[in-house]
Amino acid sequence: MEAPAAAQGPAEPSGPSSGPSSDAAAPGIAAPDVEITVTSPEQMRELGRRLAKLLRAGDLVMLSGELGAGKTTLTRGLGEGLGVRGAVTSPTFVIARVHPSLGDGPPLVHVDAYRLSGGLDEMEDLDLDVSLSDSVIVVEWGEGKVEELTEDRLRLRIDRAVGDTTDEVRHVTVTGLGERWAGADVSVLAG
Ligand SMILES: Nc1ncnc2c1ncn2[C@@H]1O[C@H](COP(=O)(O)OP(=O)(O)OP(=O)(O)O)[C@@H](O)[C@H]1O
Ligand SMILES: [Mg+2]
Repeated sequence: MEAPAAAQGPAEPSGPSSGPSSDAAAPGIAAPDVEITVTSPEQMRELGRRLAKLLRAGDLVMLSGELGAGKTTLTRGLGEGLGVRGAVTSPTFVIARVHPSLGDGPPLVHVDAYRLSGGLDEMEDLDLDVSLSDSVIVVEWGEGKVEELTEDRLRLRIDRAVGDTTDEVRHVTVTGLGERWAGADVSVLAG
């Protein structure tokens, strides 16, 4: 006998009040998570291009995911979408790189916080020639380091299929935190 369809509920609750469990420091306001499956590097870039349309000066995007997850690939698309100068590459030997806008949009500040030990103060000491509040800031490896910049942030977690190191499938979980994102419709990222 078949199980009744009603027994097949969603695997996880996703209501607005369920909140992200992995971010203890998050403020109380959080939009529901959006889950997106990406099947190639080109699609990850396309996701970055779509993300650009949601962002404005002062926004902070935090990217998490293991080495090679696709954080820089997504940022490359974001740079294309924002119309900034210079190819986005892995900022391995610099902590942050500024990509000025080719038009009149905000610059993109791409941060690799991997070697940033002192958090925000250290970032301000980098002497970037742009104001962070006038920029779109994307941070790789920023957990626990740059949250104090603003409680409003958009977090994208990129996961590979478990145990798979060759496949191109990635699961991206988007969480908007703080008032900035409470009413924003990030589901447009799903395309
Ligand atoms: N669906 C996908 N999305 C993004 N990258 C993918 C995907 N499938 C395969 N790749 C490959 O995985 C690699 C991702 O590298 P990328 O530099 O973007 O990762 P990263 O998360 O920034 O790593 P790191 O932590 O070292 O900075 C690239 O070589 C890319 O071609
Ligand atoms: Mg990277």
